[in-house]
Amino acid sequence: MVSSSLKLVTLLLLAITSQAAVTRTIPEEQQKNELEQSLNNAIPPAPLSDDAIVNSTLHSLYAIGNNTELTKCEKCTTRLTLGKSLALTRPDLIPEIWSEWCIGEGKTSASTCKSTYNRNTVVSSNTGTNFANMLTLMDVTSLDAEYYCYYKESKACALPKTPNFDISHMWPEKPEKAYVAPEPSNDTFNVLHISDFHIELDYTVGAEANCSSSMCCTPHSKNKLEVPEGYNFEEGLGLNDDEVSGLNFYDLQQGDDGQWAKGEWIGANKSVWEPAYAFGHYECDAPEILINSSLHSIADFQAANNLSFDFSIFTGDLVDHDELKYTGYQMTVDSEEIVFRDIKQKLQDIPVYAVMGNHDTFPYGEIASEKSGFSNLFDWNAELMAEMWYDLEWLDAEEAQMVRTHYTGFSVTTKRGLKVISLNSNCWYMKNHYLYANITGDPDQFGQFEFLIDELVESEANDQRVWIIWHIPVSTSETLPIPAKIWTDIIERFSPYTIAAMFNGHTHRDEFSLLYKGNGTDSSAKTEDNLINFSWIEQAVTPWVENNPGWRYYTVDTETFSVMDSFNYYTKLNETFYNSGDAPVWEFEYSARDAYGVQDWPANAPLNATFWHKVAELMHTDKQSLQTYESFAKRFSPFTSNCVDSSDCDYDWCYVTSFTNEQLQNCYKAENVTAPSY
Ligand SMILES: *[C@@H]1O[C@H](CO)[C@@H](O)[C@H](O)[C@H]1NC(C)=O
Ligand SMILES: *[C@@H]1O[C@H](CO)[C@@H](O)[C@H](O)[C@H]1NC(C)=O
Ligand SMILES: *[C@@H]1O[C@H](CO)[C@@H](O)[C@H](O)[C@H]1NC(C)=O
Ligand SMILES: *[C@@H]1O[C@H](CO)[C@@H](O)[C@H](O)[C@H]1NC(C)=O
Ligand SMILES: *[C@@H]1O[C@H](CO)[C@@H](O)[C@H](O)[C@H]1NC(C)=O
Ligand SMILES: *[C@@H]1O[C@H](CO)[C@@H](O)[C@H](O)[C@H]1NC(C)=O
Ligand SMILES: *[C@@H]1O[C@H](CO)[C@@H](O)[C@H](O)[C@H]1NC(C)=O
Ligand SMILES: *[C@@H]1O[C@H](CO)[C@@H](O)[C@H](O)[C@H]1NC(C)=O
Ligand SMILES: *[C@@H]1O[C@H](CO)[C@@H](O)[C@H](O)[C@H]1NC(C)=O
Ligand SMILES: *[C@@H]1O[C@H](CO)[C@@H](O)[C@H](O)[C@H]1NC(C)=O
Ligand SMILES: *[C@@H]1O[C@H](CO)[C@@H](O)[C@H](O)[C@H]1NC(C)=O
Ligand SMILES: *[C@@H]1O[C@H](CO)[C@@H](O)[C@H](O)[C@H]1NC(C)=O
Repeated sequence: MVSSSLKLVTLLLLAITSQAAVTRTIPEEQQKNELEQSLNNAIPPAPLSDDAIVNSTLHSLYAIGNNTELTKCEKCTTRLTLGKSLALTRPDLIPEIWSEWCIGEGKTSASTCKSTYNRNTVVSSNTGTNFANMLTLMDVTSLDAEYYCYYKESKACALPKTPNFDISHMWPEKPEKAYVAPEPSNDTFNVLHISDFHIELDYTVGAEANCSSSMCCTPHSKNKLEVPEGYNFEEGLGLNDDEVSGLNFYDLQQGDDGQWAKGEWIGANKSVWEPAYAFGHYECDAPEILINSSLHSIADFQAANNLSFDFSIFTGDLVDHDELKYTGYQMTVDSEEIVFRDIKQKLQDIPVYAVMGNHDTFPYGEIASEKSGFSNLFDWNAELMAEMWYDLEWLDAEEAQMVRTHYTGFSVTTKRGLKVISLNSNCWYMKNHYLYANITGDPDQFGQFEFLIDELVESEANDQRVWIIWHIPVSTSETLPIPAKIWTDIIERFSPYTIAAMFNGHTHRDEFSLLYKGNGTDSSAKTEDNLINFSWIEQAVTPWVENNPGWRYYTVDTETFSVMDSFNYYTKLNETFYNSGDAPVWEFEYSARDAYGVQDWPANAPLNATFWHKVAELMHTDKQSLQTYESFAKRFSPFTSNCVDSSDCDYDWCYVTSFTNEQLQNCYKAENVTAPSY
């Protein structure tokens, strides 16, 4: 036993040292192959004790870290190569070893090491099992490893140059008719759009709202500094007498009938810097009362205006942003069930077509493709959604079956004939371990793009228009570049004839994202002629971080399903802090057609990409328009930047005129603006 253990160590070390030694002489491909081969050979014929394997692998991991010949990127990819060779035979040992190594190296906190590498349990969103599964799938000789090291090991490798893909074999040639959008009919109906509820099931009235890390307003939220002796928050926050007498620490309730009840006075914890108010706080996810109230404001709005929504789209994220150690399986299921139940209670007969967000899975951010062999780990969620959406009468049996068997995408046709395609954006979300498996060889391992394209080809042939909904905007730095590139090709092929509109959530801001031809380096190429399409990005209900809660609806053409206008509603959260527990006021915010002062936009023209291009131009040339956009983005929260007297909003133009992160980064460079922190 001892001798074979030594042999393993020697072989692994040899492999590592020889890799360093050959770096400059042997081409990278070949060198990687040889390394992999020697590591594969390193799996010894005689069984080693688990202890011995753990010890020797740990030793090798530390030795990689200590090897001064290796660059940061090579260290990361070499560890993956080592990990893959072990994962092929003993994936069960990976979590233990990697977590101990991570803690031992001390480059990240022990708690991050644990959530990253500890074996999955139902209690916390640890991802060690997913990491081990990923290793078995990863092609360490391809770009998988470099992409992984860029996205999941703090940019240890540079972002690889995006390879060129031609996916045009996946569709028939674009027919002549598909170069123009159909003309609107002048008759409209109404569609509701809601997003990003992020219910905080641990929300505790009076708990610390000024916490030092993670999420505030829960029993585990702490400020790293204790409040000074004799501190009281009323003085600390400089509240006047009126504010003190109106402090809102009630047990608020709003049941099915909409009746508002203040309930008992709960009060504040006197040893916190700033207590969580009953209706919510800008640094916290949403208490259920805020979710109920937002949904009720929608029901009230319909009643007051004698108007009803044909259907609603929901662009994802039901679960809170708490630290992964507080994000368990049951909490994920509960959040999903409670929010969808509340939506049903308040919206009654309005069908809701939903997407799952990056938070709506367990462990956080993960989902495996069917062909990976690991999709069974995630079937519970597909089952739950299929069952729930069927029970709530949002989908029929056939549609529910599509959710169950093809949970990265489904489509429904509304009673008026519009097709809505819902896609799970975790299929290209960089935090999902299962993506780092043959990224270049098989960029559509989920089969999601194939599904989407088939649906679009069918609709195009039938002259049917389509809306596509998904959670994470393609332009965020969290979208892998290869799927981003594929997205732009698909959108170009099927716009403007078939794709009538696209909708996202995720950023919590009220935004839009235009797609032009080109890579974004040349700002002057962002012209009407180069416009392809755009996506709406919906504001959140959760106030986190520093936004007022909001929702919107669209007036939609009955024939073409083009969006004719959008109407936004919001509540001023800060007005609920000292309002004696009264019901919040939800108010009209703006109509997009009116608010930006786009000149001469015909009344019968939809708010299509050309309209938003004109808004973007105004933002580029006029600081007041830029301020209007930014104020809407945050729904006039007290944390809204001043765009007129500062350069704080100067990146907004690049943001709204980019559809992929590559385009966005190129634009930032071209415009010489600093990227925002989010
Ligand atoms: C593994 O390492 C631990 C601690 O360094 C040691 O106590 C143990 O004997 C080692 N086991 C083997 C089989 O080498
Ligand atoms: C790596 O370096 C650390 C100090 O940074 C040392 O404690 C450890 O023994 C070394 N490990 C190996 C395997 O060389
Ligand atoms: C829609 O209304 C505009 C005037 O507002 C008119 O020019 C156009 O012909 C109408 N279109 C249809 C299809 O009725
Ligand atoms: C929210 O609404 C649901 C469904 O009507 C109800 O069961 C729940 O008690 C409400 N919660 C609060 C805090 O109002
Ligand atoms: C009040 O807050 C402090 C500091 O966050 C905490 O230690 C204490 O347990 C809280 N008290 C109650 C009753 O929740
Ligand atoms: C928040 O906490 C910090 C200490 O970590 C304190 O300096 C600051 O004044 C607090 N702010 C508020 C608004 O309570
Ligand atoms: C509400 O609208 C419907 C048609 O949408 C109409 O039949 C009804 O008379 C309206 N009711 C009121 C009170 O305006
Ligand atoms: C990667 O995908 C390509 C294309 O589907 C396939 O031919 C190849 O075998 C895959 N490689 C691995 C390592 O799975
Ligand atoms: C962007 O595209 C232009 C024109 O095709 C090309 O010259 C330029 O090198 C590209 N820039 C980047 C950063 O990809
Ligand atoms: C938007 O609509 C206007 C008016 O109908 C039309 O001229 C323009 O070409 C459309 N833009 C796009 C990108 O389809
Ligand atoms: C709430 O915030 C807005 C925006 O900063 C401000 O105009 C308003 O006065 C605030 N209301 C209260 C009650 O503090
Ligand atoms: C870019 O902006 C910085 C300040 O934000 C300025 O110092 C620098 O000169 C600018 N560079 C160019 C090329 O305009």
